[in-house]
Amino acid sequence: MKLKIGLVKGDGIGPEIVECAIKVLDKVLDKTEYSAVYEELCAGGVAIDKYGVPLPDETISKALECDSVLLGAVGGPKWDTLPGHLRPERALLGLRKELGLFANIRPVKLYDALKDRCLLKDSDEIDIVIVRELTGGIYFGKRGRNQTTDGVEAFDTETYNEKEIERIGRVAFEYAMKRRKKVTSIDKANVLESSRLWREVMHNLKKQYPEVEYADMLVDNAAMQLIRNPKQFDVMVASNMFGDILSDEASQLTGSIGMLPSASLGNTKKGLYEPIHGSAPDIAGKNLANPIATVLSVSMMLSYSFNLDDLAKKIDNAVEKTLKNGFFTKDIGGDLTTNQITDKILEYL
Ligand code: IPM
Ligand code: MG
Repeated sequence: MKLKIGLVKGDGIGPEIVECAIKVLDKVLDKTEYSAVYEELCAGGVAIDKYGVPLPDETISKALECDSVLLGAVGGPKWDTLPGHLRPERALLGLRKELGLFANIRPVKLYDALKDRCLLKDSDEIDIVIVRELTGGIYFGKRGRNQTTDGVEAFDTETYNEKEIERIGRVAFEYAMKRRKKVTSIDKANVLESSRLWREVMHNLKKQYPEVEYADMLVDNAAMQLIRNPKQFDVMVASNMFGDILSDEASQLTGSIGMLPSASLGNTKKGLYEPIHGSAPDIAGKNLANPIATVLSVSMMLSYSFNLDDLAKKIDNAVEKTLKNGFFTKDIGGDLTTNQITDKILEYL
């Protein structure tokens, strides 16, 4: 059976890490009844250079025809001064929206082998899943600029409706049911009206999950609690922006942002899989990037889009073994190149 995978290699380190991840995918599928066929999708800065827009229509229509999409990273200083609607990041936001991927799953797991890379003193057992709302909130609300007597003013709007909140809440509760049955919902309900609605909807929803232990937490407190006592968290559910910020923070509990994969999901099996980190232009093309977040994103793809949990597990185990045997890239305290650590993962597959 052919798995049709769209590849958005993107910018910066994107192409290098995607190349590594598809080597791992090809190897794990080898000698199974599955094989991957790849369709390159142009998006991000490279698309701006080639077509003048970050997300050409053709990319969207091709992505819609794929079973799933793997994305490296988009963005870079070259395009930083473009107006908002032409920035490379628009490609990512557009893909998420066009594919209806409202739920972003970001597992935060500290590997045993990286315990001394964790910033915290007492670091065992960090195993959190951040469920981030992905197609609403301030990322997609009304924005603009006006001329005022005090100069130009600019605004962005956080808007959420009950349906959007309930469906992301449901993803979090369902996830928690398969884990330690604990949901912490992040908001800023002491200040924001959108957060007050968020909290109301979550409270209604929790009635349907009597087995799940539930807590509300203000986002500023959550940022502190992640550092103070991350073990208290199982599933955290947050708006688009709060989830974005907290997941970068949480990545440091695992040693490096280069370790965190993600899956963006909607109502179908089609997903967009990508590392949570960016395009790291400073190390692009130098064979220094940590490909593990992208490799683990492939594992998530196998599991969520194709129900191939056994193969996903194989990848996870190969990564675990690589780390256990002391093979690290620079960001996690070693000196292996991108290709060298990929070879190790391939060896342990
Ligand atoms: C992420 C990134 C993106 C986001 C950027 C690149 C638009 O930070 O996936 O976390 O904010 O969603
Ligand atoms: Mg981010």
